[in-house]
Parts: sequence; C-alpha cells; structure tokens
Amino acid sequence: MSRAIGVIDSGVGGLTVVHELMRQLPKESLIYLGDTLRCPYGPRPEDEVKKFTWEMADFLVEKNIKMLVVACNTATAFTLEELQNQLSIPVIGVIKPGARAAVKFTKNTHIGVIGTEGTIRSSAYTKALKSISAHLCVNSLACPLFVPMVEQGVLSGIEAEKIVEQTLLPMKKQNHIDTLILGCTHYPLIKDTIQKVIGGQVTVISSSEETAREVSTILEFYGQLYNGTSSPGHRFYTTGEMGVFAKITEGIFREATDYFQSVTIEKASLPY
Ligand code: DGL
Repeated sequence: MSRAIGVIDSGVGGLTVVHELMRQLPKESLIYLGDTLRCPYGPRPEDEVKKFTWEMADFLVEKNIKMLVVACNTATAFTLEELQNQLSIPVIGVIKPGARAAVKFTKNTHIGVIGTEGTIRSSAYTKALKSISAHLCVNSLACPLFVPMVEQGVLSGIEAEKIVEQTLLPMKKQNHIDTLILGCTHYPLIKDTIQKVIGGQVTVISSSEETAREVSTILEFYGQLYNGTSSPGHRFYTTGEMGVFAKITEGIFREATDYFQSVTIEKASLPY
C-alpha cells in the first residue's frame, strides 16, 4: 500500500478538498482528520489555532503520510509557514490556490473574500492577492455564523438563506465585486445558498480544485504519485461526534458512492 496524503481541518469543511482530491487523484489514499470537537477555530486566538493545528499535523505525521494538506483557511493563515519550515514532507494550504483561482476569474479586478474572523483578521487573502497583483481591490468580510450552521448540517432552506442574506448584506450593498472567494473550507457546502444571495453576476469560487491541482503537481515533482494497481483506501478521523460527522460526510459524497465505499470513519483523540 502506498503512503497516504494527509488532510486536516477544524471540522467537516476540509472534506470539500478531499472530494476534489478523490476526483483528480483517484489512485491516491487519503487520511483525513477533522477536529470537530474543538470546531470552530475561526474565533480562537492565533496561539490556540497554532497549537491545535500542530496536534493535528503530528497525529497524521505519525501515520506516515507523504504530504500534508491544511484544508482549513484559519489554520493555513496562522500555521502554514511554521509547518512548511519544520516538517520534512511537503505541506500546502488553501489560501494561495484560492487567490490564484480568483485572479483567473475576475474581469473588473474587484474581489470579495469571506471567511472566519481569524482568517479575515490575518489579512492572509489580501496579502496573497496583492502579491499576485498590487492593483486588485479586495473587499473582505468575516462570516462567524456560517461555520456553526454548516457543522449542524443546515446547508440550505429558509433558515440558511436568512443567515447568509443578513451576513452578506454589507458586501452586496457595495455592489462592486465580480468574484467572491469562499475563504473557508466549510462554505462550499452552502455555495448554492451563497450564490443565490450574492447574485448570478458574481463568480463564486472555492479553492478546492486549485488546491487539488497543486497537490498533484507537487507529488509529481517529487516522483511520489502512486502508480501501482491497488485500490485506494481512505480513513477519516473525527475528534467529535461520529454520528453527525458520518451524516455530513455522506451528504458530501452522495454522488460518489464508489469512493465512499472505500472510506472508514474512526474516532481520534488528540492531547488536550
Ligand atoms: N474550516 C475552517 C476554515 O476554513 C473554518 C471552520 C472554523 O472556524 O474552524 O477556516
């Protein structure tokens, strides 16, 4: 069996990146860890996010992963550089891939970014976007109610629409942006609701596709893409309630039942 790609997130949001990795790299085995018990990371201080992210990274490094994907924007914003400097395997986050995707799509150079309080406070997207082009105009907005809503499995319907509508109102009023980055890996799960509220004229993008492409490029560069004939086996770990995690996982992989059959879900405990 080949070494797996490790993916970490504060909860279920990183599964949107896993979904894309399974689609683009169907031969690779994945190990996912969602720290559902301590989710959300968004409102937490930087030091705490760093500590939790390192605990997740160590848990997966123990499992001999060949690469680490930090599929959480908040964890990426605060910890990516440290992980890249200190781990001996390649590590990537989701912010730079998301910024690159947005730059490809925008025509009027006005880009919106929505994310957790931590991600928006860190200005990581603004820095990543401006490093691509200093002329971009970036409009950022923290959306603290979205993650709890997603973790409860509320993804659409009147309740979801009301919360999204109220939260995005300040951005909508300005009416400038033509591209909106979902700067949180939980948000693709409510993408349809966000698109409905922000309007069809705005391109809503998530970083999952671009991140998966980058994983593929890096593994190819290091000659570490799996090219054997064994079927992949995926292991998903959660620190929280197994039932809720399994329900949301099933929802995300509904259309990919063949992939889902190769997944086992287990409970993980991290040193608290
Ligand atoms: N998945 C996290 C992110 O992308 C959001 C959830 C949280 O606040 O922990 O920022």
